[in-house]
This record gives sequence, C-alpha cells and structure tokens, in this order.
Amino acid sequence: MLDDQVIISPSEAPVSEPERQLFYIERCREMLIESGLLSEEKKLTYHISTFGCQMNFRDSEKLAGVLESIGYERVDDEKADLVLYNTCTVRENASTRVYGRIGYVGKIKKEKNPSMVIGICGCMMQEPDEVEKMKKSYSFIDIIFGTHNSYKIAELLYTLLINRKAKEKKPSLKTHVIDVQKEATGIVEDLPVRYDSTFRAGVNIMYGCDNFCTYCIVPYVRGRERSRKSCDIIREVEDLASRGVKEIMLLGQNVNSYGKGLDEGITFAALLDRLSDIKGIKRLRFMTSHPKDLSDDIIDVMSRKETICRHIHLPLQSGSSRLLKKMNRHYTKEDFLTLVRKLRAAMPDIAITTDIIVGFPGETEEDFKETLDVCEEVSFDSAFTFIYSKRTGTPAAAFPDQVPEDVVKERFDRLLKVIARSSAANASRLTGTDRDVLVETVGHTGDNGETRPGDVSEVDDGAVTALTGRLGNNLLVHFEGKRSLVGEIVRVHIDECKDFYYLGSLVK
Ligand code: 5AD
Ligand code: SF4
Repeated sequence: MLDDQVIISPSEAPVSEPERQLFYIERCREMLIESGLLSEEKKLTYHISTFGCQMNFRDSEKLAGVLESIGYERVDDEKADLVLYNTCTVRENASTRVYGRIGYVGKIKKEKNPSMVIGICGCMMQEPDEVEKMKKSYSFIDIIFGTHNSYKIAELLYTLLINRKAKEKKPSLKTHVIDVQKEATGIVEDLPVRYDSTFRAGVNIMYGCDNFCTYCIVPYVRGRERSRKSCDIIREVEDLASRGVKEIMLLGQNVNSYGKGLDEGITFAALLDRLSDIKGIKRLRFMTSHPKDLSDDIIDVMSRKETICRHIHLPLQSGSSRLLKKMNRHYTKEDFLTLVRKLRAAMPDIAITTDIIVGFPGETEEDFKETLDVCEEVSFDSAFTFIYSKRTGTPAAAFPDQVPEDVVKERFDRLLKVIARSSAANASRLTGTDRDVLVETVGHTGDNGETRPGDVSEVDDGAVTALTGRLGNNLLVHFEGKRSLVGEIVRVHIDECKDFYYLGSLVK
C-alpha cells in the first residue's frame, strides 16, 4: 500500500479469506443500493479488457465473478460504470497498447460518465515505475492493484466507494485506492468465478515462476512458484465437469514443476493421471511446459490417457546451446531434440508447438541458423515467434551486443517462412481422416481462417449453419451443422487443409 492511501476496514470484517472478500462483496452491494446507483430498475455495468496470456484471462474471469456477485452486469465495451484493464508487461508492445486504451477510457470518463470507476491491475502494476507513471499522468484512475492481490477487488472497490462518500463532505480528499503487494501471500480459494465459456475452462494449477530466464520479467511480476493443493484442483475440475464443461486447460508458467513445495508429494504427471479420470472431461490440455522439467512420467501418462490432448506447447526460445545458456534455460539444443524424439516415439501423432525469441542480445547469424536448423528438424506444428524486447530489471537488459533492429527483422521473416512450411506440412497430414472436434462457435472464425458469420439468431430452428470447432492438435476446422452442436464433441471428416485450418464435413 502506498503512503497516501487509507484502506478502511470495517471492524467487523473477517480476517480470513475468502470470508473477508465475501463480506466486502455484500458491503459493496449494500452501498451501491443505498446510494441509489443499483436497483431492480437501474443496472450497473462493468467491462474488463484483458492483455497478455491465459493466466491473465483466467484472473479476469475471477475479477468478473466478484463484480457480478456485487451486482454489475457485463458489457462488451468501455462505455460502462466500471472498467478494468488487466495488463501485461512481458514485451514492450503489450505495455504500449495498455497506454493507448487508458487514454481512450479517460476521455469517456471525462465527457460521458464522471462517476465511472476505472481500475488497472495485472503484471504491469507489479512494476513500481509503472504505478508511479499511472499516478502522475492519469489522475482519473481510481483503483490500482497488482497480480498478488487481485482477489481483493471487492475490498478495494468498497474503499473507493467510502472515499467517494467522504469526499462529498470534504472535497479536498483524494479518493483513489492503490494497493500493490510486493510478494504473493497464500492462494485464496472459493471466490466466485465467471467462466467465459460453458464448455471449456482454464484451471490454474500453479502460480508464479522460479526459472528466471534472463530475458523474462514474469518471475518479478508473478512472484515465486506456488502450487495449488491437488484436492482443490480436482474439486474445481469435478465441479466444471458437472456443469457440462468438456475441455480443461491446466494453467501455469511452468506446469511441469507442479507440486514443488506442497506437503502432499505430488507431481504433475500424477496430477494429470488423476484429472484425466474425471467423468465428463473429454479433453485435458496444459500450458506451459518447460523443457528442463518435462519428465518421462509426463510423456508416459500423456500417451496412456485418451483424454489428454496429443498436443504439447514446448518453448524452444533458441536453437543455439550457447544462447540457451545465456538465457538461463538449463537445456541444450541436443536435450530439446532428444525430448522431441521421445515425445514422437511415444505419440507419433503429437502436435508440438513452441515459442521462439529472435534477436536475444549477442545472437549471431550462426546462433540464428541453429534455431532454423532445430525448427527444420522438429517440424513444429506452429510457433509463437517474438522479437526480443528489453525488459527493465531483467539481466539480459544489461547484456552487451543488443542486435540491430534491421538484422532482427530480417531473421524474424526467415524464421516465419520455416515455421509456415512445417505447420502447413504437418496440418495437411490429417486431410482425409475423421477427427473429434469440440464445436466452439457459430460462424467461421479466427486463427488465420476465413471469417464468415453464421446464423446467430436467438431461436434455434434446427437449421444448418457455419460452425467452427477445434481438433485435439489445436487447429480449427470449419464445417456445416446445427448451432445446437456448439459445446459438443462431434466427429468431422477433414476434407481440405488450408495450411492453418481445415474445411470439413460432419460425419453422420
Ligand atoms: N522478449 C521477447 N519475448 C519474450 N518472451 C518472454 N520474455 C520476452 C522478452 N523479453 C516470450 C517467451 C515466452 C513467451 C511467453 O514470451 O518466448 O515463452
Ligand atoms: Fe519467463 Fe522463463 Fe518463467 Fe517462462 S519459464 S515465465 S520464459 S522466466
């Protein structure tokens, strides 16, 4: 908490969580009703804009759960009574985009809705410099909090409402609430969550990262590794299954090191084994895996269990052992290739995707060629490719020999071509086969596929329309079917491969 802040705690507030936040959810609701802002006729709206990775999207679902319990209703744009930005700081462009949005929402608040509540949270707010910048340059921001205490949104909102009330009597008072915790405390379970989808869900299994790759800011903003107790994870997955969720994505910065620090002596492989037996769950995915911790046991359980998707996201970062050492990745090019061979020997049809950074400080043409060689040899199904972005406070930011921009761009383009070739070649192997598909949306959408709206009328008249679904290998397929199939797993014949997606037809 910063020095100019007063966090007001009613004396009767419970000290333990989640009881404390459930208490503040009620207090917020009461205050909003008392002040006439919320009633049967008068609704309050919220909007959350999420940047970055799946962990952030999952955190936003939790924020939304609390806000909806207070009585806010979700809207799709920033013309809302409460707007939250859940920020990312992994690369510079993520931060730049956030600033653009804040400028925009500031204008809406000034011109249309001065009593609007604007909040900023997430990874960027774990950086003290960024908090200072927000405070100085964007005085219209009401609430600032970080990743470690986002479960406290109800308490922070309550404080703001109290502050605003006090300001009515004493206009010189500052109302904004800033609460950023430097370190993570325990994991808070059992707060309300609003799942974005009714048929697939992300489930956190661990938080934070202890790996300190030299380019990466995540360990500084997400804190040390903490695993959730397996009983809490199993309970959440069982609950999701009972509500009809078919696909679960287990989330963590380094899922392979799940269990470290827990008393129960459980590994990620053992957790996967147990989760894959939960009735109703048809697909289990997980991300992200660190190559240094991908054990034989994990490969074994993946190959034994039908429900675990034949897909692994395994960030390579670089194909040069020399650079991997400078990146503090704890594996060599050969180790990575050995892992890939093991995965393919156990599961010949496995899709392997990756992350690659181009232009890490000191990257030579030779280093880069090694990255291309590994890509050729592995034949990745797809890759997220990133231009190295200097993050203040990370060791690599101070490394000499930052690579000139034009060299990086040229390498980046060469890498994209190699990846595009292997993705298309791998994808085309499924042409002519029948596959299980989880139907995601009406219409043809996303992931480089053509876009075509389907029949999204409210009444399901049983008519056939355009549908989009996802295969186990994570690629999309477009086909025709009834809209009632959304959320179901169906068998689809793959008629044609369009490099990054497929055209198919329902197997009757
Ligand atoms: N610059 C570029 N890419 C980065 N990543 C993490 N930090 C940086 C950085 N400073 C990439 C890595 C990681 C993915 C989530 O983001 O490839 O796997
Ligand atoms: Fe960042 Fe490395 Fe941790 Fe991934 S494993 S979050 S790249 S430090």
